Amino acid sequence: MKRDFLSMESWGQERCLALLDLADRVKRGEIPGGLERKIMAMVFMDPSLRTRASFEAAMFLHGGHGIVLEPGKGSWSLETEPGAVMDGTTVEHIKDAARVLGRYADVLGVRTFPRPGAWDTVRQDHVIRRFAEYCEKPIINLESTRRHPCQGLADAMTLREQFRGDPRGKRFVLLWAWHPKALPTAVPASAAISAAMLGMEVVIARPDDYELDPEDTALVRQLARDNGAMIHINNDPDDALVGADAVYVKSWGSVKHYDRPEEEAAMRAGLRDWRLTGQRLRSTRGGKGIVMHCLPVRRNVELDDEIIDGPTSVVVDQAENRLHAQRALLLEMLRSA
Ligand code: CP
Repeated sequence: MKRDFLSMESWGQERCLALLDLADRVKRGEIPGGLERKIMAMVFMDPSLRTRASFEAAMFLHGGHGIVLEPGKGSWSLETEPGAVMDGTTVEHIKDAARVLGRYADVLGVRTFPRPGAWDTVRQDHVIRRFAEYCEKPIINLESTRRHPCQGLADAMTLREQFRGDPRGKRFVLLWAWHPKALPTAVPASAAISAAMLGMEVVIARPDDYELDPEDTALVRQLARDNGAMIHINNDPDDALVGADAVYVKSWGSVKHYDRPEEEAAMRAGLRDWRLTGQRLRSTRGGKGIVMHCLPVRRNVELDDEIIDGPTSVVVDQAENRLHAQRALLLEMLRSA
């Protein structure tokens, strides 16, 4: 049976931690080759810099090849709804695209951000799940509505590096930050899952009405508990950051207001003071809490230049670790394929 990589929790904590060990070895240059004559096809229904470049580089570095498709920009625009009467703008159904790409490639990566609608429906993450259903080859989630597991792996790898292999008990603060757009919750949910899998004390600092999807919060709580740690929810950024060992700055939209974007935007407009300032950073442990962000970042909006470029920022290490974590993932998924 094929094994998709749709989320870290579906892959399993033990296997994720084993991937991180493999990623460390890959990063040290201990594992050459391994993907000779393997093909990864990637469907980017939304833009990317890191995910696309790092997967293409990963395939090349191990002797394989990556094919990138951007529906609507050089490849056909894709219909995602089952049973759709395709007399509109979409030209090809994902059922056909997934089945055909499965004949060319050994693994298929898909990026598909959330679309407008009712959160109860959108949260089902139908598009990535349909690709997984239709494609005979394993699927890698390159960021969907609910999860960005490749980012989560790289974040976990970075946290282990920063805390000498054992971040257990360290205080990880996921800090909501103001942003001009209502962004998806895939990255913050995945980051919190990573920290909980590592046994870190997880603090989710967000304004009222900006809770993550309750199922995600419950999952983080369960993972933290399983690993002997705690989760705290805090609506005061000053209080939340005191003693933090790691601060993950991230914006996301209110899922409670998902289908009322004007109302959400009006609410968000009053939250510009939710950001990591120099003063807040000084309140972290020894004033040296590491600063994380998945990138891309709106400089001097989410984070000031002096913080992103400062001595405790690890944002570029996180981005580099995307490459190594994904090399490990591809080796694990494709070596025996
Ligand atoms: N962090 C991340 O996924 O970056 P891209 O959107 O550029 O791929």
